[in-house]
Amino acid sequence: MATPVLDKVEADSAASPYITVTFRIRRFNPEISDEAQWQDFQIEIDPKERVLDGLHKIKWDVDGSLTFRRSCAHGICGSDAMRINGKNRLACKTLIKDINPEKPITVEAIKGLTVLKDLVVDMEPFFQAYRDVMPFLITKGNEPTRERLQSAEDRERFDDTTKCILCAACTSSCPVFWNDGQYFGPAAIVNAHRFIFDSRDEAGEQRLEILNDKDGVWRCRTTFNCTDACPRGIEVTKAIQEVKRALITRRY
Ligand code: FES
Repeated sequence: MATPVLDKVEADSAASPYITVTFRIRRFNPEISDEAQWQDFQIEIDPKERVLDGLHKIKWDVDGSLTFRRSCAHGICGSDAMRINGKNRLACKTLIKDINPEKPITVEAIKGLTVLKDLVVDMEPFFQAYRDVMPFLITKGNEPTRERLQSAEDRERFDDTTKCILCAACTSSCPVFWNDGQYFGPAAIVNAHRFIFDSRDEAGEQRLEILNDKDGVWRCRTTFNCTDACPRGIEVTKAIQEVKRALITRRY
C-alpha cells in the first residue's frame, strides 16, 4: 500500500502542467559564420507560459549565448518583437498554448532590418524614420501660462495612435519595407498621425510634406500586414489612409 507521502508525489506528477516543446530558433553569429542556421532546443514548459519564458529557459539553462532583447516582459517596452511561427509578435505576449506547441515553434528576427546576432536587429534605420517625422508637440508663439486645453472629441481623434510602443512589428511586417529600407514604414507614419491630428500641434503641414516624399506615405500598398502585426491593436492601415487623405484635402 502506498504511503501518504508517495500518494502526494504521484498526484503531483500526474497533475504536472509541463509539456515538452521544441523551439526552432534561427541563430546568427557573425563571429562564427556569415550564414544563419536553425537550431532546435527541447524544453519542458507549462503551455500557459509565454514564448519569452521559453527563451529565458534556453538562455539561462541550456545555451547562454542565445541573444535577444527584452526589458519589461509585460508588453510595454516593445523590445522583444520577433517572428514567431512566421508572424510578428511580442514574445512576452505570446502564450505557448496559443501557437500549437505540438509542432516546433519557429523563432527568428524581424525582417527588413540587419540582423546583428540571433534575434537582435539593428533598429537605427527604424528610429531614424521615427525621428524624421518629428514625434513631439510643435507650437508657435510664447509659452502659455497654463496647460493647453483640448476637448474630449479632439483627444479622441488621435487616441489610437498614442498606443504605439515602437516595437517595429508593423514596419518589419511590411513587404514594401522588406524590399526597400528607404520607406518610412508604418510606425513612423503612425507617430506622425499622432501629432498631425492633435489640435494643439501646429506643424501638421510640415509633417505632411515630409510624408509626401517618394519614400513616404504613398509607398503603402494597403496590405494590412501592419494592422495584423500590431500587438497594441492599433488600426495602422487606417491611420496611414487618414494621413493620405489629409495630404489630398489638407484637412486634419
Ligand atoms: S519585453 Fe517589453 S514589450 Fe515585451
